[in-house]
Amino acid sequence: MTMNEAAPPAKENMGEPLPRIDARLKVTGKASYPADIPVNNLAHGMLVTSAVARGHLTSLHLDQARAVPGVIDIITHESIRDDLETPEFGTSGSTSIGPLRDTKIWHDGQIIALVLAETIEAAREGAMRITADYEAERPSTSFGSEGTETVAAAEASKQFKEDVKAGDFNAAFAAADVKIDAEYEMPTQHHNPIELFSTTAYWRGDELVVHEPSQNVYGWKVEIARQLKIKPDQVRVVSPYIGGAFGSKGPITPRTAIVAFAARRLGRPVRCVVTRPQAFTTQTYRAETRHHIQIGASRDGKITALKHEGWEVTSRPDPYVVGGTKTTGLMYDYGSVLTKVFLVKADRPTPSYMRSPPETPYVYALESAMDEMAVALNMDPVEFRRVNDAVKEPIEGRPFSSRSLMECYDEAAREFGWSKRNPDVGSMRDGDWLVGMGCATAIYPTNIAPCAVRVSLTEDGRARVQTASHEIGTGVRTIAAQVAAEQLGLDVSAVEVEMGDTRLPPAPVAGGSNTTASVSSAIIKACGEIREKLARAAVTSNDGPLAGRDPHSIMLRENKLVIGESSQGLKDAFKQLGAGVIEQYSEFRPDAASEEAVSNLYKGKLEMVSGDQGKKVKYAFGAEFVEVRVHRRTREIRVPRIVGAFGAGRIMNTRTARSQLMGGMIWGISSALHEATEFDLRDARVVNRDLQDYLVPVNADIQDVKVILVSETDPDVNPAGVKGLGELGNVGTAAAITSAVYHATGKRIRKLPIRIDNLIG
Ligand code: MOS
Repeated sequence: MTMNEAAPPAKENMGEPLPRIDARLKVTGKASYPADIPVNNLAHGMLVTSAVARGHLTSLHLDQARAVPGVIDIITHESIRDDLETPEFGTSGSTSIGPLRDTKIWHDGQIIALVLAETIEAAREGAMRITADYEAERPSTSFGSEGTETVAAAEASKQFKEDVKAGDFNAAFAAADVKIDAEYEMPTQHHNPIELFSTTAYWRGDELVVHEPSQNVYGWKVEIARQLKIKPDQVRVVSPYIGGAFGSKGPITPRTAIVAFAARRLGRPVRCVVTRPQAFTTQTYRAETRHHIQIGASRDGKITALKHEGWEVTSRPDPYVVGGTKTTGLMYDYGSVLTKVFLVKADRPTPSYMRSPPETPYVYALESAMDEMAVALNMDPVEFRRVNDAVKEPIEGRPFSSRSLMECYDEAAREFGWSKRNPDVGSMRDGDWLVGMGCATAIYPTNIAPCAVRVSLTEDGRARVQTASHEIGTGVRTIAAQVAAEQLGLDVSAVEVEMGDTRLPPAPVAGGSNTTASVSSAIIKACGEIREKLARAAVTSNDGPLAGRDPHSIMLRENKLVIGESSQGLKDAFKQLGAGVIEQYSEFRPDAASEEAVSNLYKGKLEMVSGDQGKKVKYAFGAEFVEVRVHRRTREIRVPRIVGAFGAGRIMNTRTARSQLMGGMIWGISSALHEATEFDLRDARVVNRDLQDYLVPVNADIQDVKVILVSETDPDVNPAGVKGLGELGNVGTAAAITSAVYHATGKRIRKLPIRIDNLIG
């Protein structure tokens, strides 16, 4: 295999950088994304969305739309009324807001109609000709808007449970030698995957088939069935390829059941592709957050007190909690900890998961404050982390299963050349550019969930892995093939993988970076059972090279059963078994999950065991270093280089791991300098609802991105030894950049994104 920067050589406890097995299909256009599936007699749907954020729809004017040639039907609240159950928030659903059930408007851009037509053009034309009258009320948009309601997250949400705390923060903070007290703000963000959101639905008698990009096909199947008042067995959700998700395709949104309803009413398939602007209000997004952090430390740099309070904007009806204090509360050896999370209810859609949902905003705030404290202590920021590095988490004193934080700092610092940094603010220059350097910690919990797989092995050494897991671009399809090949002693080219269909064995939501660990653990179990069957047949046969040997010591290697110097071909072993194929169905249940966790998986109810549960806490760590350049006159901000080092247990494939971490860091740069969903505060409407105005980095913004994979072995996390890393890379990046901007300019910007105008004057 060719090694290069994109395919780093595997170090200890790392898998080879196998190219993605679906890469060729994707780049040649042969991979069919859900909206590409050819369907006969298709009707096209176009959403119509509200122009006010709060109030009631009083009338819809449909005549102009009905007059458009090709328009077949228009679905409104008059059509649906009680035919659909209201969506449910919390399990698989993104929101309890049910458009088209009645006339109530909960947020800007809420679905108020679905136009169905023979062509997409006719549907769009029809949608544009619909006008509506509203009884509008004055909406509340954000923090500080009149009419918002603030509630404690722990009281409002079943999922969040409680605020973490330890020791006596107030006393410790009062007694601290050095104190930091600062507030940080992170804006609303929208995922904007390149693949647009879409639903294609058709019925075969009483059976519904839905093609839609999804991170949770089993969960969706159950929720779609509930809304349509049919049985889950009547619903199939298909999603083999997904063009970017980042959490946005995790919770089901209300559109899906509406499109399925339309297909039933029309008696023909319906496809609805959501436009880019419509996705800003009909899909989920990252909640806007504010943070108040207080840190107290002794003169020698030991933290004695941390307080982290968070405020998060959510919708009126749904208590979605970001809740990153569970992570920030245990990151360092603080002495005492006090945290509290509040929800601020406003007239917005319900927010939801977006890559490292809790960690991105909360760690941004904490790591920014850590840098401020290092400055206040006149300490090197890396040394400040070292002094406060934790062996045990500070809340209950449980050990970390492994923690390579300082190894990551040391390796990344060496590669970056941190020792050449002059700590004095504004001291480093290159011509007209002020140079700044900063660093921050990345952290992400190691989550794991139940997962079922079917692995088949034929006598001629071909294997197939089937699981309803989701390849959202992370590389899990490739890793599944690698794991099966390794376990069964085959070449990876002999393994086929099927994913993304509720006809396959159930897998958990592709969320919380659990997928590689959960799917790999299930495959390891299934392959172990296959090996066991073959080994037993080989040792119990009367003749043959393995007769009478210990079956547990037999391994599968290169299409053979092997023990010491003896071996037997796979074909002969199958003959002794009297079979042509072994089809092994296995269910993996994490140790800490309940007895019902697996049966719940079939019911679309996920039991994820999170990294902060259990006798040991399980987290992946990293350290990121950035150089920024701020132009002396124009204040243009550039990031010429970023280096990240990460320790995340077994790395299954160094190519896909690097790709995930690199993508994460790029998104981190985006968080720091580009992204924000802007609201008009008067009417709670999104202003920049397209990729022209919602800024994301382009090639010119991203220069040298270096990923270092740090060897780490952690047998405690799960049978695969894997810590998820899909959401690790974008944690902390924004704080590293704001710290570097401070180092360059002396300006401490506590509100993201940093814009040129923040640095003028
Ligand atoms: Mo990830 S935001 O948990 O899909």
